Formats: sequence, C-alpha cells, structure tokens
Amino acid sequence: MQLIPDTNLKPYHTFSIEQYCHALVEVSSVKDIVDAYNRSEWQALPKLMLGKGSNLLFTEKFEGVVLINRLKGISHNEDDQFHYLHIEGGEDWPSLVKWCVNQGIGGVENLAMIPGCAGSAPIQNIGAYGLEFQDVCEYVDVLYLDSMETKRLSSLECQFGYRDSIFKRELFEKVVIVSIGMKLNKQWKPITHYGPLKALDSATVTPEHVFDAVCDIRSNKLPDPRVQGNAGSFFKNPVIAKDQFDQLQQQFPDIVGYPSGDEIKVAAGWLIDRCDLKGFSVGGAQVHPMQALVLINTGEATAEDVVCLAQHVRQQIWSKYAIALEHEVRFMGQNQETDLDTIKGRVDA
Ligand code: FAD
Ligand code: EPU
Repeated sequence: MQLIPDTNLKPYHTFSIEQYCHALVEVSSVKDIVDAYNRSEWQALPKLMLGKGSNLLFTEKFEGVVLINRLKGISHNEDDQFHYLHIEGGEDWPSLVKWCVNQGIGGVENLAMIPGCAGSAPIQNIGAYGLEFQDVCEYVDVLYLDSMETKRLSSLECQFGYRDSIFKRELFEKVVIVSIGMKLNKQWKPITHYGPLKALDSATVTPEHVFDAVCDIRSNKLPDPRVQGNAGSFFKNPVIAKDQFDQLQQQFPDIVGYPSGDEIKVAAGWLIDRCDLKGFSVGGAQVHPMQALVLINTGEATAEDVVCLAQHVRQQIWSKYAIALEHEVRFMGQNQETDLDTIKGRVDA
C-alpha cells in the first residue's frame, strides 16, 4: 500500500485541475481498503474512493484521504448460453471492453471508450449508444464500511436508472464497490438504433464493427481528456413532463427529445447550444466549441472557473426554457460531496 502525503490531484482526475488532498493511497486489495479505513491517524478524516477521476471535480482542497482503486483481475467462465465475467473494481473499463471484443465476446461494445474503472461503472450506471451497464450487470460486490464485510448485490438490488443507482442514494458513502459480475449472452444481438450506428448493416454487423463505429464517433465528438481536461457530459439530459415538452416544442420546433417512460428526455446539449453558449468561457473553463454538453479546462482553469461557468449555463437554461439542469459530474468539497446549489448558497450568503 503506497502512501503519498499532501498530494496534487491533477494527474488523478480528468479535469486536470490543480487541487491537493491531505493524503493519497493506492489500494490493490480489499485488505488495503480495510487497513486504510481502520488506520488510527486517519480515523477522523473523510475518505474518498477514486477510480480514474473521470466524473469528478474537486472544488477545493480535499482535507481527507483519497484511495486510488488498483484492484486488478478478470476471470471468465462460460456455459452453452452465456459468458460470465468477474472483474475486480480497479480494472480499466475501456481496456475491458476492448479485451471482450478481441476475445470474441460481444455485448459491451457500445460502451467502448468510456473512461473509468470497472468498479465505477455501476455508480452512475454508465451508458452510451443504446446500452447501459445495467443491461449486462449480473451482480456488484461491495464492502460495507461499518462492518467491513463484503456482500453481493444482484443487478435488481442496485436499483439502476438513468445515470443513477443505489450507490448514489441509500448506499452513498456506506460501501466501496470491489468487483462486478457481467453476464453476456452468446446469442449476440447488435444494438444499432442510436443515431449514427443505424448506418451499420444488421445482417452482417459484428461486435468489432460496432466497437469501431462507436470509437470513431466518440473520437470525433468528445474531447480527449489527455489533451483537454473534461469529465464528459457535465449535465444530465433532463427528463421533463410531456406537457412541458409539447409547449417548448411549439416555441422551439427543432428541440431534441426522446421518450423516457411517460416523460421526455431532452438533449441538454441542444438546449445549451441554442443559448449560443458554445465557446463561452469563464477564466480557463469553456463550453466546448463543438459539443455544448461538455465543459473543458483549456489549460489553466481553476475549479472556481468551472463552477462559475456551470452556474452561468444552468441559469441561462432556466431563464430560456424553465428547465433546471442537474450536473452529472460529482463535486468533492473540503470534506464532503457538494453541488452547485450548495456552493451558490454559500457564495450568496
Ligand atoms: P471517478 O470519477 O473516479 O468516481 C466517480 C464517483 O464514484 C466518485 O464520487 C467516487 O468517489 C465514486 N467511486 C469511484 N469508485 C468507487 C468505488 N469503487 N466504490 C464506491 N464509490 C466509488 N459516462 C457515461 O455514462 N457515458 C459516457 O458515454 C461517458 N463518456 C465520457 C467521456 C469522457 C471523455 C469522460 C471524461 C467521461 C465520460 N463519462 C461517461 C463519465 C465517466 O466516464 C463515468 O462516470 C465513469 O464511470 C467514471 O469512472 P471513474 O473510475 O473515473 O470514477
Ligand atoms: N446537440 C446539439 N448541440 C451540441 C450537442 C448536442 O444540438 O452541442 C444535440 C445533437 O445534435 C443530438 C442531441 O443533442 O441531436 C444529443 O446529442 P448526442 O447524441 O451527442 O448525445 P448527448 O445527449 O450529448 C449522451 C450522453 C453521453 C453518451 C451519448 C451517446 C448524457 C448526459 N450524455 O450525450 O454520455 O456518450 O449520449 O449515448 O446522457 C457522459 O455521460 O459523460 C456522456 C458522454
């Protein structure tokens, strides 16, 4: 277990913003996690389990201990019908998807190139191009932080939703995800209904074709965090009542929305784009000039720049459409998770 005091978190999250923590420790086993939580001099300090930091903004110095997930290992079993994968939480998700495709195992190719650890995938139920983690999840193994015991949760028990799960609600700060199980049907069915994937020929398409197509789209559309700091979509696509959507459609005939149960999921990128915010900057933070849902660090952004920009975007969307955007990116403050409303309240007070 390697321990680094007073660490700059810049290389540990994809926004790549200078921000320090009290201490950082790399954990490569469940025992390491238990030891870090039980360490007497850290008892009073907040702890944060971190994967690749690709969905996180540190809004100020974190006065606690950051645990970096390095739990590694993949095991594969199969029967006539399914592939069964057991994956340790610190495995790299994009590499795992690529590995599956290379092994001829179909079923996760639509989730190619989503940065992060496998153990983080259940938290917001990662999704892209018509597939969500819940569609392939068999179970999630968690370590309960009160008893330090591990327990297996079924996919149903994880209460998955759009960018949502039990890990953001009832089990928030109560568990650490240590491994996941995926069950992939050998009777592979391509998922090609999302936008540009429709061009693939469903009669001849293979998992590799879908993988390549998704990689192409993503490489052209989303900024590479190694080049420009970002955390993917900054806001969730808001889900609104059909009546409200119908009214907005009268005012804005080309508004983009998709049915989501009885409601409509509106493309937040479209809303932001039509407020002419592409390229809008606050300090070093900018609304990506090509993809309005992504906020980027142009080089020297501070967390405050990103927060001010996000507040501006949210306020503009509220003024124009009466829609309250919710940020998908998680905010970590000095000693606990925070959000735009809490930060705004503090500034206004
Ligand atoms: P982190 O950012 O490290 O952590 C996220 C949160 O989970 C934090 O609150 C952390 O404390 C908590 N956490 C992390 N690990 C554990 C654990 N083991 N146990 C308990 N809590 C934990 N997301 C999508 O859904 N679809 C996309 O298409 C997509 N595209 C993206 C594209 C880019 C360029 C980027 C930068 C991000 C994108 N994202 C997307 C968001 C991100 O990739 C996912 O949210 C990913 O699952 C985050 O994984 P991570 O390991 O980086 O999590
Ligand atoms: N749009 C604009 N202007 C923009 C951006 C988008 O008009 O600047 C319009 C597009 O033309 C399209 C619609 O908005 O009609 C939706 O855009 P896109 O298909 O690019 O998807 P998205 O809503 O921006 C969502 C996810 C992504 C995921 C893609 C593909 C959320 C919050 N975001 O993006 O996930 O990769 O669909 O499935 O649900 C993430 O969560 O970090 C993420 C990148």
